Amino acid sequence: MLKQKKVACVALGFLTIAIAVSCASKTVATTSKANQPIKSAENTQNANENLKALMTKGEEIYRTKCTHCHGVPETSAYSSNRWDRIINEMAPRARLDAAEKNAVLTYVKAGAR
Ligand code: HEC
Repeated sequence: MLKQKKVACVALGFLTIAIAVSCASKTVATTSKANQPIKSAENTQNANENLKALMTKGEEIYRTKCTHCHGVPETSAYSSNRWDRIINEMAPRARLDAAEKNAVLTYVKAGAR
């Protein structure tokens, strides 16, 4: 009788530990899984807003500073690689700083053929 009680106690002890462990690991897993989609959605939204701002700024520069000497073609007139070379050549002529050059480059390459 005494031996049976001891076995039952040990079994109960193991069961408690097993439940505690499984609960603990479940909590950790759900927390990190629950946070991830929210974070990446926020990051995506921020990235989209940054890109939108960059595109707007780039187009504005393209239509103003780039038209001092000549008209500008549709951005689809050149490939992305060709735009790299053109902007490298034209940015100093238009006196663009690094940020302005990056904005124009983003804009024209987005519309490249
Ligand atoms: C100071 C005057 C000047 C400014 C400002 C200028 N360009 Fe030019 N661009 C030229 C000249 C001159 C040419 C003729 C080709 C050459 O000399 O390389 C030219 C040619 C081009 C061409 C044709 C290239 C080809 O190979 O067919 C494109 C496209 C162009 N520019 C885009 C731009 C863009 C975009 C900007 C703004 C970042 C800009 N340009 C600013 C003077 C300018």
